[in-house]
Amino acid sequence: MEILEAGQGTYQLQDYQKERETFDWKQVEKAFSWSETGKVNIAYETIDRHVNEGRGDKKALLYSDKNREESYTFSELKEKTDQAAHMYRNLGISKGDRVFIFMPRSPELYVALLGAVKVGAVVGPLFEAFMQDAVKARLEDSEASMIVTTPDLVSRIPHEDLPHLKTILISGDSDKTGSSEKFVSMDEKLAEADTDDSAIEWVDLEDGFILHYTSGSTGKPKGVYHVHKAMLQHYQTGKWVLDLREDDVYWCTADPGWVTGTSYGIFGPWLNGVTNVVRGGRFSPDDWYGTIDKYNVTVWYSAPTAFRMLMAAPQETLKNHDLSSLRHILSVGEPLNPEVVRWGWDVFNLRIHDTWWMTETGAMLICNYPSEPIKPGSMGKPIPGVDASIVDDHGNELPPGEMGNLAIKTGWPAQMRKIWNNEPKFNEYFAIEGWYVSGDTAYRDEDGYFWFQGRNDDVIMTAGERVGPFEIESKLVEHEAVAEAGVIGKPDEIRGHIIKAFIALREGYEESDELKEQIQKFIKSELAAHAVPREIEFKDKLPKTRSGKIMRRVLKAWELDEPTGDLSTMDDN
Ligand code: PRX
Repeated sequence: MEILEAGQGTYQLQDYQKERETFDWKQVEKAFSWSETGKVNIAYETIDRHVNEGRGDKKALLYSDKNREESYTFSELKEKTDQAAHMYRNLGISKGDRVFIFMPRSPELYVALLGAVKVGAVVGPLFEAFMQDAVKARLEDSEASMIVTTPDLVSRIPHEDLPHLKTILISGDSDKTGSSEKFVSMDEKLAEADTDDSAIEWVDLEDGFILHYTSGSTGKPKGVYHVHKAMLQHYQTGKWVLDLREDDVYWCTADPGWVTGTSYGIFGPWLNGVTNVVRGGRFSPDDWYGTIDKYNVTVWYSAPTAFRMLMAAPQETLKNHDLSSLRHILSVGEPLNPEVVRWGWDVFNLRIHDTWWMTETGAMLICNYPSEPIKPGSMGKPIPGVDASIVDDHGNELPPGEMGNLAIKTGWPAQMRKIWNNEPKFNEYFAIEGWYVSGDTAYRDEDGYFWFQGRNDDVIMTAGERVGPFEIESKLVEHEAVAEAGVIGKPDEIRGHIIKAFIALREGYEESDELKEQIQKFIKSELAAHAVPREIEFKDKLPKTRSGKIMRRVLKAWELDEPTGDLSTMDDN
């Protein structure tokens, strides 16, 4: 088999085997002062600690988009986030309140998010592409009392329907400000706020700081709740896996609306005190290569879809940029095809390191490391301090080579602590005693490497984003022409999967390309652009169980021209 051997350098994780045998999470606690005081705040550790330890003048954030180009030191970010913390306090926010952040990437987003964490609030980051219904579902479920947003996005917040939502804080000039008590100017409130660090709330390790909504295969999006203690793993994987060092310029391409954009777009790099690049705006190969070139990025964390789009770009795009600053490349979110690893080796002369984890796991769990061989196509091996295995449905561990449930021994630091307001859902993950069951199917080989085989539910991974078919189906049937809808992921060379909808029309409606477009626009305007079915196929009726559930596995079999399997529960009337 093809193996890419480890590099010859010195790495933060030099001896994987030894570390697996000797490592204890208690060792990491000693890096932080709270190991003595018992009280902590992840935002303090992320920003202020560096200032208090003499690294205040170091560049923390390099931000740019089409119109702006700015940089901030750790001292500057400390002052700004302290000021935001005072502002939240002045507006009545206190420990445990849910504060949502609904903004495009900008320095203001990072300040708003960390400032809220400083006062002990639980932040809920929302992807900027979310439309009204997606926003509403999340604010409703979490009973959020505040949302921070921008003039362009504010109209998507249906505040009349959200009795718990007391304040809509708008960053930038908006004619909404002052139109009711709910709409408040963030710039004004910031200007009135103090900038000392007395607003920090010292909390317990087990207190919550973030709520990431993510999709499952049934039901509404779920609020995955993480606690301050997760920082141990953000910090340590920043060393072992991202291999972060003092002089690194690090770029994680994910938006903070998704967990990668917070755990590794904010906490992993800044807990380790490195310079963090944030590039606003949309993806284009030229822009991305340009960003690496402009900032001399050394460590780059991205996703297979992006790598595949770069692969497909004209060679000149690559040639126009100097990418020689890169030292270490990583990937997450979907299977990393061996072909992409080979491409990375050809163009960057570097190995792309796959990492596996989930919103629910809070931080990386199964990874490839600079000091270990890479088997292209494999996700790698568990980090030290974490045990992973393949188990059958009864919890029996399976031998190498056998496919089964990818499961993790419970108790790692960044593990989710609850699903907001939904204990039954939370318990489903832990149905096998002692294990967290991921919902992924995988196998392990003789050398302990894990190989991803697929999801064993209907969750769709498209362009690195996780989409639940249920939310899209529910929205589709709200369209006047749609009687029934079933949504699946269809394999796609670039995006991993695209969203495909099978639709049965109501009487009186005829299928047409115009209708398809109309339905796509409907989803885009009500839910989100990334939730739009790129393909729609009309059917007279959809396969359903006798209890009326759409059988997505039959739709998948139709799509892939595969046998439909056991249809005994299907309603054939
Ligand atoms: O199916 C796995 C896939 O992404 C799912 C988790 O999605 P999300 O919570 O959105 O988190 C994505 C980034 C942390 C997993 O259940 N997935 C994640 N990483 C990989 C992966 N599939 C294959 N290879 C990976 N490296």
